[in-house]
Amino acid sequence: MYDPSQMARFAREAARLADASKFAEQARRAAEAAKHLDASKFAEQARRAAEAAKHLDVSKFAERARRAAEAAKHLDASKFAEQARRAAEAASRVDREQVVAEASRFTEQAQAAIRAAKNLAELERLRIEYLGRSSQLTEVKKLVRELPVEARPEVGGVANRASRDLEDAIKVRAEELAFIEREARLRAEAVDVTLPGVPYPKGSLHPSMRVVDEVVDFFVGLGYRVAEGPEVETDYYNFTALNIPPGHPARTMQDTFFLDEGLVLRTHTSPVQIRTMLSQEPPVYVVCPGRTYRRDSDPTHTPMFNQIEGLAVDRGITLSHLKGTLAAMARHVFGEDVKVRLRPSYFQFTEPSVELDVSCFVCGGSDPKCKVCKGAGWLEMLGAGMVDPAVLEEVGYDPEEYTGFAFGMGPDRMAMAKYGVADLRLFFEGDLRFLRQF
Ligand code: DAH
Repeated sequence: MYDPSQMARFAREAARLADASKFAEQARRAAEAAKHLDASKFAEQARRAAEAAKHLDVSKFAERARRAAEAAKHLDASKFAEQARRAAEAASRVDREQVVAEASRFTEQAQAAIRAAKNLAELERLRIEYLGRSSQLTEVKKLVRELPVEARPEVGGVANRASRDLEDAIKVRAEELAFIEREARLRAEAVDVTLPGVPYPKGSLHPSMRVVDEVVDFFVGLGYRVAEGPEVETDYYNFTALNIPPGHPARTMQDTFFLDEGLVLRTHTSPVQIRTMLSQEPPVYVVCPGRTYRRDSDPTHTPMFNQIEGLAVDRGITLSHLKGTLAAMARHVFGEDVKVRLRPSYFQFTEPSVELDVSCFVCGGSDPKCKVCKGAGWLEMLGAGMVDPAVLEEVGYDPEEYTGFAFGMGPDRMAMAKYGVADLRLFFEGDLRFLRQF
């Protein structure tokens, strides 16, 4: 460890050397002066003083002066000079080697302290202590100016070397510490990619939405576009444009939620047909999923339910296109083995109108106690038909040039059949125990 007394000794030695040089200089000057001392002149002065004293008749004083003159005669200036020379030599014999040794010991200890610095802050403290403006090393450098000329290079060199060595040591340690601190930081910030993830509650698609996705996927695969419309509809789009004029008894078939004047919650997705046809020229191939509303609530009816509307209008569209398209769709959703059949039906906006049944995909018609088809062998799936010419005219299409088919299905009902759910209301109660099963 760094021992401050070491540096103090170093400083002291340097100071001593500085003092000694002053002393040596004084001695040298004294010796010089002594060399020039002329004892005979002094003797002559003394003689003259004695003469004067004689005339003053102070014989005693004269006698003393005479003796002084005698003594001065014997004064050997060279001896005095020799003494002064020796004193000067002794002074310059201050042990420079010791200074050098002290300095290198100090440097070693300081280097050791620097190497042991535990962090950059401590290192900076050491730098200020060893190399700062009020460090002992700086003091020593200042003393150098007061040293005898011949001692300056040596002591100055020692001090400069010590500075350089310490600066180097600090630089090396600073790099080491920066590396160590960076490593520590990286280690502290490290992310353990092998840790298992925080469990994130997994959602699942609603059973109705699974069917919607399957159906929409199927039609998109055929080149149909997805179209959507508002759930709050005008009476016109929901009824009148679909060939159900005000007062027509067909309106009562749909248990409607009436809103403000002229507005309803749409009872089916069929108004999207109208909006689509009004917004573009034929050909039209769209599939329109969405929420619909009716005042109904029992195990197979809920006030809100989903529908998927489909519409194809083009030149030469026939009922066989309708049947082929829907048969393919049924196979896509329920399995390759299902068959479809059409039954005559009635809708205001189609002529002829049909209902499409799908053969029971569970028992295939073989189980009289089948829970899904209740022994019927067939499942009612959707309403469809050829678009009524009155509807085409209403949207400005020429029924002589274009024909079309349309259909509307209930994905909730389809999901009930597909997943064997007896009560439609479960779909919309938001009970996670139920929904997690899909
Ligand atoms: N909109 C009818 C309903 O909700 C379903 C329907 C039947 C839609 C025949 C159609 C269709 O597009 O052609 O009961």
